[in-house]
Formats: sequence, C-alpha cells, structure tokens
Amino acid sequence: MIRMLPRLIPRGLSAAVLCGALLAVSLPAAAQEAFKIGLILPLTGPSQSTGKQINAAVKLFMSVNGDMVAGRKVEVILRDDAGVADTTRRVAQELVVKDHVAVLAGFGLTPLALSVAPIATQAKVPMVVMAAATSVITEKSPFIVRTSQTLPQVSSTMGTWAAGQNIRKVVTLVADYGPGLDAEAWFNKAFKAAGGEVLDSLRVPLANPDFAPFLQRVVDTRPDAVFVFTPSGFGAVFIKQFIERGLDKTGIKLIGTGDVTDDDQLNDMGDVTLGVVTAGPYSASHASPENKAFVSAFKAANAGMRPNFMAVFGYDGMQVIYDAIKKTGGKGDGAALVAVMQGAAWESPRGPVAIDPATRDIVQDVYIRKVARVGGELFNEEFATMKQVRDPAHGATP
Ligand code: PHB
Repeated sequence: MIRMLPRLIPRGLSAAVLCGALLAVSLPAAAQEAFKIGLILPLTGPSQSTGKQINAAVKLFMSVNGDMVAGRKVEVILRDDAGVADTTRRVAQELVVKDHVAVLAGFGLTPLALSVAPIATQAKVPMVVMAAATSVITEKSPFIVRTSQTLPQVSSTMGTWAAGQNIRKVVTLVADYGPGLDAEAWFNKAFKAAGGEVLDSLRVPLANPDFAPFLQRVVDTRPDAVFVFTPSGFGAVFIKQFIERGLDKTGIKLIGTGDVTDDDQLNDMGDVTLGVVTAGPYSASHASPENKAFVSAFKAANAGMRPNFMAVFGYDGMQVIYDAIKKTGGKGDGAALVAVMQGAAWESPRGPVAIDPATRDIVQDVYIRKVARVGGELFNEEFATMKQVRDPAHGATP
C-alpha cells in the first residue's frame, strides 16, 4: 500500500493537500459514530421506581422514534447510581472520559444532580435533568437543562389554590433536603400571600423516614390541612403511617405536591387517598390524545405498568435531546446542543411544555388534581389548570 501511494498522488498534489483530502474522506465515517447518551439512574435503592420509570420511558421513546437521528446512531449507556451521589459523580466522570458521551441524562434525586454539575461545566457536556427538582440545580451549570419540574413551581400553585378553598390553617410536612425545603418555602409564601396561616413547618429526614412523630404533631396542632412533599417512591410509606396514626379519621385534609400520590404507587395506597388534592404537572389520566397514546404504548411495553410523572419527564428529556441532535446536524458539540435546547417547545403527554431560554428550566401547565376511583383504578383526576407556570424561584427569594 505504501509502495503504491506515490502512484496514486496526481502530479502537483502536495502531501499536505493529500492529507486534507484523506481527512475529508474519513469525516463521514466519523460522523457515523454513535451519539452516546450517558443515562444515570437510581435503578436500585429507595428511589428505584424513578429509575425503573425513566428507563422504561427512554426505551419507549427510542422504539417509537428510532435510533437514527441526523445520520447518527443514538446509543444509550445506562448506569445505576443506587441514589448515592458519590457514585453518580464517579459514573458521570467515567462516561465523559472513557465513553465520550455527548450528553449526560437522568439524575433521580437533587444531590445526585448537584454532584455532576461541575463535570458538565468542565467537560462542556449537556446534562439533561429528568427527575431532580430543587430549583437551584439549573443555576449550578450553564450546561444543565431540566425536563422534570421544580418544587417551587408546583408548591406555590398549591399554596394559592388551598387558600381559596376555605383552608385557613396548615401544617407543612416535607422531606428534609433540597426539594422539601423548596416545597415548604414556596407553599408557605403563596399560602400566606393569599391570606392563609402556617401553624408549623415539619421536616422529616430523607433516609428511612419515620413519619409517625411528625404526624402526631400534626394531630396535636389541629390544622385544617397538612401539606406534604415526599419524593417519588416514598408516598406509599407516608400513607401507611398516615393511616396507622389515624389521621384519616381526624378530618385534617391531606394536600400536597403530586409526588405523594405518584401514579406508580397510587393504586396500592388504597381508598384512604380518595379526595386527596395535589398540584402536579402530570397525571396518567390526563385527557389528551398524546397522553392516551403514551400510556397505552408504555403499558404495552412494560407488562401493564402505569407510567408516572418520572416516565414523562424522561420521555421529554429524550425529546429535547433528539430535537437538539437534529437541529445541530448531528455534530454533537455540547455548547451548540444546549443553545438549541433553550427555547425548545413541544406537546408532551403532560400537555404543552417549553424550555425557558433564560433559565434552561421547564415551563409547563400545573394541574390541581383529586384522587378518585375511575374504572376500578385510583387516578389523580385533574380539575383545574394553571397555564404555563415558570419556576418562580429563579432570581427570587421565597
Ligand atoms: C429530588 O430529589 O429533587 C426529587 C426527587 C423525587 C421527586 C421530587 C424531587 O419526586
């Protein structure tokens, strides 16, 4: 081959020009390399339902939309972080350095997302947050785009609604970490601004939560309602202890964010949840053609499992990534990908959504929902809508 090379070079063509030509010939081959997405999820541990739901949704998205985008084959590299932030950081580092992923995605809990933000910034790799929901996350790196929700977004909606319902006195009860503190602060702010009174604000440790002593304090304080935030996957434990403490017999109303009456666990929580009102961006019973198609395809692909909000957040995360690959012609440059993700807008199974170009955070309808039995199953039935809610916390204090 080397011996033949001189004969292949036309007279007058320098070696430098030839090198350039050879490079140009090899470029399409490089462009055929897979566009890799590093998907980090808690597939084990207490938040495994989040991992299971998002993973199933990512698979569904790819089976519906194919794995070729702008001439690139899309490959998802799935890793389990078990919900441990040190693991998330180590795995993200490996995915960037060894696997050369073009995008990092997933992030089931706030501490996990926060641990990776510096890596996204340093490596200039977009980080699509599909679950974690503390407001501040998107401010931790210009490479973060969020497709989930923020706790201020849903909690302030709930605070305003509750104050208009003859609910005058509330005790708040939240998981004691980022999203819980956001939920408490922004519920309280909205509820008080609309004339309500917060009698007490209780915070329950996240690890192995024992709600019993806190629920007893709620009973003793006798509010009209208790406002609750627990992360997805913890709702069933909360409801069990709610019943054990007899709160369902006290007349104290249960209100909260949609994370408590999570569609993944709601059916198992039982009739005690009937009438519970929550604010959230997604219900499996959302009445739109997009959602009907999504729910039936999701169930068909997952042995009848019902999608919850995490599944939709993951599905939409893939929508944002695919759209960005298309708009950037499959080149995979991190800054270019983030630039086109900003301002993206589409019809999600949850309703119309957009990425705020200024904050890189999700803008979405927030629904007020009441648990009801429909066709033998428990659902969060939407009955009021706050249109296109932005995260109120960016650039503001509660
Ligand atoms: C979070 O850790 O940010 C988080 C996790 C699950 C939720 C909401 C927030 O349902």
